[in-house]
Amino acid sequence: MQLLNRPENMTRITTPALAEAYIAEQIAALQEQIGDKKVLLALSGGVDSSVVAALLIKAIGQNLVCVHVNHGLLRKGEPEQVIKVFREELGANLIYVDAVDRFLDKLAGVEDPETKRKIIGGEFIDVFAEEARKLDNIEFLAQGTIWPDILESEAGIKAHHNAGGLPDDLKFELVEPVRILFKDEVRVVGKALGLPDGMVYRQPFPGPGLGVRCVGAITRDRLEAVRESDAILREEFAKWGLEGKVWQYFTVVPDFRSTGIEDGKRTFRWPCVIRAINTTDVMEVTTEHLPAELIDHLVRRITSEVAGINRVLIDYTPKPPATVEWE
Ligand code: XMP
Repeated sequence: MQLLNRPENMTRITTPALAEAYIAEQIAALQEQIGDKKVLLALSGGVDSSVVAALLIKAIGQNLVCVHVNHGLLRKGEPEQVIKVFREELGANLIYVDAVDRFLDKLAGVEDPETKRKIIGGEFIDVFAEEARKLDNIEFLAQGTIWPDILESEAGIKAHHNAGGLPDDLKFELVEPVRILFKDEVRVVGKALGLPDGMVYRQPFPGPGLGVRCVGAITRDRLEAVRESDAILREEFAKWGLEGKVWQYFTVVPDFRSTGIEDGKRTFRWPCVIRAINTTDVMEVTTEHLPAELIDHLVRRITSEVAGINRVLIDYTPKPPATVEWE
């Protein structure tokens, strides 16, 4: 049976053996709950939904239908990784939806951060609901709810983001196989399920994705500058041994330009802001001070490889007074 609450005496899952025991228990519980019915899952490629997908593939195979929506605000290589890992390696029944134009057209000219978030969230539900309506005989909806989501929604800190949101004609029974786990336990289980480290140890990534890092009204060229600079930052952090040590790191490209010079000619381009932070609870955040040599290297690479950028800045502001994201 699926547990709704984490038992008070539950041992923290810290070892592969404990993870294997949890996986075996969950597979049995999932098979009992679902039988030969079908389950739908929105698979973002984040840790929680990826672990849920891997568990369900083991439990019910092709009766799991994964939907991966590419809203154009994902990081470089992410949609490709979801397809490679889940469709090619794990043989999942995966529907890939290219909704890039749809999202970016809706967001064109929208400057207000909260309006941007609402558009992205609303459009996501619309796309997912459209895909769900095309399918027959789906009775369950799987979600990557984890125990801190439940605790925070009970404490009134945040609405439990996973619950609901779908229109009334789409009524499913919920399947939440990592509901009683803490984040670190989800990672141990993901590792035991054979998911790649890049997925299991992924840094937190906001739902609205790169959209909140392309400050102001999103344009395709500036969004590409965010995506490319983020890819360079991640690559260099990995090379310098900072991956997994720094809690979250990313780039931001604000919507203003400054003067620069290239081949003796004046340029007028955007700055790229680097932000690297450490925290335990995200309420208070300190910044990671980067080695001078790494900074020089990042400045050189980003200004020479990313179209539209002629200046690199570092955001060393803690939270408070700044939030982690710029929007
Ligand atoms: P802030 O900017 O509020 O960020 O200090 C705290 C943490 O939350 C992430 N974040 C979000 N995650 N949807 C999400 O799923 C959002 O709209 C969102 N906004 C911020 C942020 O990346 C950081 O880890």
